[in-house]
Amino acid sequence: MKTKKEMKKYKNMNDKILSLLNDQIWLENHASFYYLKLSIIFNEKGFNGISTFFLNQSQEERVHMIKIIEYVLEQEGVPALPSYNFMDDSEESFNVISYFENSLHNEREVTNSINKIISKCKEVGDYTTENFLQWFITEQREEENKFKEIIDNLKIIGNDGVGLYEINKELSTQ
Ligand code: FEO
Repeated sequence: MKTKKEMKKYKNMNDKILSLLNDQIWLENHASFYYLKLSIIFNEKGFNGISTFFLNQSQEERVHMIKIIEYVLEQEGVPALPSYNFMDDSEESFNVISYFENSLHNEREVTNSINKIISKCKEVGDYTTENFLQWFITEQREEENKFKEIIDNLKIIGNDGVGLYEINKELSTQ
């Protein structure tokens, strides 16, 4: 029979890693709500294609959050359920390109956070979590590239009129 001390020695998750993963759960949830907010804003303005795009993004971010929650539970950690009242309702003026630029900025923040967790994993020898996070590295690269491409297109075709009509049409299928 193992002593409590021995069992503690082999517990699955380092406290710092757990805390960083809980921060990540918060960030994914924040991203999900931010995209949901943008989906509603674009819908209200009649850009149904862009609204659908952000609704899909929101759902993806929720899946990311749940992936981490499930991983933490599997590793016998306790995931911190994010508060649902954090989204500030400050009024931003409607500007299509700046919503996409804010989204890219947030995605980069998420990527930095994942990188930070991986650095810590290496430091403490948590190769299981490091391996789990590899999927997120690929996902973040794809998401950043997606937003960069849309921003580049908006810059070329213009942030109003026909340009927006085209982007709205194109994003309805993504
Ligand atoms: Fe899951 Fe795009 O951060």
